[in-house]
Amino acid sequence: MNEPRRLFVKSFGCQMNVYDSQRMADTLAPHGYVETSAADDADLVILNTCHIREKAAEKVYSELGRVRRLKQAAAADGRRLTIAVAGCVAQAEGEEILRRAPAVDLVFGPQSYHRLPELLARAARDGKAIDTEFPLDDKFDHLAPPSAQAVRGRGVSAFVTVQEGCDKFCTFCVVPYTRGAEVSRPVVKILAEIERLGDAGVREVTLIGQNVNAYHGVGPNGRTNSLAQLLERAAAIAGIERLRYTTSHPRDMGDDLIAAHRELPKLMPQLHLPVQSGSDRMLAAMNRRHTSADYLDIVDRLRAARPDLALTSDFIVGFPGETEQDFAATLALVEQVGFSGAFSFKYSPRPGTPGAAMTDQVDDAVKSERLHRLQAVIDAGQRAFNRRCLGRTFDVLFEKPGRYDGQLVGRSPYLQPVQVSAPPSLLGDIAAVAITEVASNSLFGTLTQASARQPALAAAGA
Ligand code: SAH
Ligand code: SF4
Ligand code: F3S
Repeated sequence: MNEPRRLFVKSFGCQMNVYDSQRMADTLAPHGYVETSAADDADLVILNTCHIREKAAEKVYSELGRVRRLKQAAAADGRRLTIAVAGCVAQAEGEEILRRAPAVDLVFGPQSYHRLPELLARAARDGKAIDTEFPLDDKFDHLAPPSAQAVRGRGVSAFVTVQEGCDKFCTFCVVPYTRGAEVSRPVVKILAEIERLGDAGVREVTLIGQNVNAYHGVGPNGRTNSLAQLLERAAAIAGIERLRYTTSHPRDMGDDLIAAHRELPKLMPQLHLPVQSGSDRMLAAMNRRHTSADYLDIVDRLRAARPDLALTSDFIVGFPGETEQDFAATLALVEQVGFSGAFSFKYSPRPGTPGAAMTDQVDDAVKSERLHRLQAVIDAGQRAFNRRCLGRTFDVLFEKPGRYDGQLVGRSPYLQPVQVSAPPSLLGDIAAVAITEVASNSLFGTLTQASARQPALAAAGA
């Protein structure tokens, strides 16, 4: 038997990249690769990249500088270090990466991951390999499922991709180009994967997709299932106690999905529903195809279904043509909805997208200033939300040892980290915790016998 080869994978970008990295590791395991957490002693380094904003895309090149030096050091030791670039930068830039970073051996996009063993062989043979095709076969049929051992090492909360790609073509976004057209995985395959996770000790599953609520996979009876139907089936799987899904688009927030928030107790009361802007003029220019009133209406219906639902969002400031008045509409929407948290970004023109070609680009200084103001409002909302958690009792899923001996860290239903004095035997379990202290990014609490199923937490901002 050959020595195992060491694999180091680093994920940039979204949760789907994290999931993809795990699938790549699982696919390489039968080929003799074991994962290492240090790039220094690796035989293969895979950088799984993100192209969403310029800063994210440029990160890979600084990282490649470091990895190139590791490759030189390995060569001086008589070892070969193979460098692979995967993900959305690989898809968008292809050969350009080999030109800018000649130390790279292999470039391959998100639709080629199942061909990784073959691509590595090709790179070893020919010196370089590149694969950014969008094949017609389903990569999920060929990617290795997670092994029980791998799952245990990854903790009690797991992602499962149910939908990939996007047909929405928001004018700022590269995803439709890097991930390709929207594809949903069949229901039975997703359920089989969740069952494996449950058997290996996973308690919480987050269904992921670029547009997860556009999910329309083939069901067991041959008919199309919606995300709500998929969630209902997933909720029936033994061992799985919590379900989440991300990222959703407001246009695909169907009635049955809203109802699922009322009907499925395992569906956690937290939803990431990006709105991007509060200005209808900007929403139209972004090709979001809904208004701010549509968004507020969806929020109302969600909260009617699940009064303790906490909402988070993404925002872009300084999209071409954004005026102070447009920006004020965004601030107003944030106040009105009362998010429990949100990500906000300066608009970054991406090559090949319609937004980049628009003539009325906003000055960077203006973008920075608006970002600053928006973040202040978002942060205040998050602090207010956390303060309202004080004195409440939450079900906490214990994930790992805490900061100090005798402590564990878990997650509240709202994904907040909670530090609790608790025995290690509670790892992987859900227990009721009374929240006794609230800091900016985490909560502190004590185990309690009380039932966590208390009346709804009042909607933020309401
Ligand atoms: N599918 C998700 C978004 C995925 S990208 C959705 O439709 O909401 C994650 C976030 O990155 C987006 O919500 C947006 O806020 C931000 N983003 C995408 N492209 C961007 C760009 N060119 N500049 C700045 N932020 C961007
Ligand atoms: Fe990008 Fe829009 Fe698709 Fe989201 S819905 S991935 S923002 S194009
Ligand atoms: Fe980035 Fe690609 Fe995800 S661009 S956000 S890694 S889909």
